[in-house]
Amino acid sequence: MCPPAVLSQNLHGRRVIVTGANSGIGFVTAQQLAKQGASVTLACRNEAEGSARADEIRAEVPNADLEVRKLDLGDLSSVRAFVDGYLGAHDSLHLLINNAGVMNTPQGKTADGFETQIGVNHLGHFLLTELLLDTLKKSAPARVVVVSSCYHDMAMGREGVIDLDDLHFENREYEGWASYAQSKLANVLHAKQLAKRLEGTGVTAVSVHPGWVRTELMRHTMPAWMQRVTRPFMRMMGMVEPWEGTQTTLYAALAPDVEDHPGAYYSQTGTYRDKSKNTGGWPLESPSPHAHDDDMAQRLYEHSRQLVGLAAASAREASQAARPHQA
Ligand SMILES: NC(=O)c1ccc[n+]([C@@H]2O[C@H](COP(=O)([O-])OP(=O)(O)OC[C@H]3O[C@@H](n4cnc5c(N)ncnc54)[C@H](OP(=O)(O)O)[C@@H]3O)[C@@H](O)[C@H]2O)c1
Repeated sequence: MCPPAVLSQNLHGRRVIVTGANSGIGFVTAQQLAKQGASVTLACRNEAEGSARADEIRAEVPNADLEVRKLDLGDLSSVRAFVDGYLGAHDSLHLLINNAGVMNTPQGKTADGFETQIGVNHLGHFLLTELLLDTLKKSAPARVVVVSSCYHDMAMGREGVIDLDDLHFENREYEGWASYAQSKLANVLHAKQLAKRLEGTGVTAVSVHPGWVRTELMRHTMPAWMQRVTRPFMRMMGMVEPWEGTQTTLYAALAPDVEDHPGAYYSQTGTYRDKSKNTGGWPLESPSPHAHDDDMAQRLYEHSRQLVGLAAASAREASQAARPHQA
């Protein structure tokens, strides 16, 4: 659990975005940060649900400074519209919590034709982060927390690997757990590569495994009634409540020593192939060799820029800048 001093920091004047703030870990993260005085943007794909959850927070924290904005990470035009709206209203951002996620979905595609899990869990957040980077730098000290999973190592027997030649499962059989593992490894590498690029800027990026937490995440894996029936057994097997499962995110977002570990991975208890890592660590050296592959982190960054249209945009800007000015 987070030390009480971390959870009693005064966050007045600090601006925060939490993606997927209407449910599970994201909701409790937004609630706690609002309690501590932060100005919180709940970034939700369903605005009505986001507003209902914001009201729940206000019922407990009457002077909470909250706003709800629509963000569908499965649609890059929604990501761009979200950023335009946010930057039209605010000129600072101290904490970006890339929390939203889907797990083990049936095969599908996002609006931009990406495989659903890599599209929502990584590429949507990648574009969001890139578009907010200048504002984060301007607001430093600032942080980016990427919510990954211990399944970046191994998800239900599928090793977490990134296949840049077939990121979207077009030339191999789709498998929901392999896709989740790939997307969660992408989260770890995203934070690691970002931290490298942000050296000396006062913006710290890290990734997190929250533990096995009772949320809506299993909706594609097990029907709700079965989750209810098996809950006591799952609890005995180590599943924790959302408040407990939010501790690692809050630590990564707020604890002062996190600045000494840019790019690190913070883990609650998890299930790793190397069982000695199962007790977790703040930070933990990931037991996955792929999580330490700097070359892949760089290649994933370049590939992601291409996919979300940023590489083309910077090539256009460069060629415009090189063109002689005409009177
Ligand atoms: N729970 C666990 O045991 C566990 C373990 C390891 C890692 N994690 C990670 O923790 C994070 C939070 O998950 P959770 O457990 O709190 O699950 P959750 O209750 O299902 O919450 C997921 C959130 O992500 C949002 N989301 C899904 N697709 C989206 C999209 N296209 N655009 C915007 N938002 C979208 C959901 O919105 P809707 O409500 O509209 O669907 C919801 O708010 C995820 O990244 C997950 O991978 C969880």
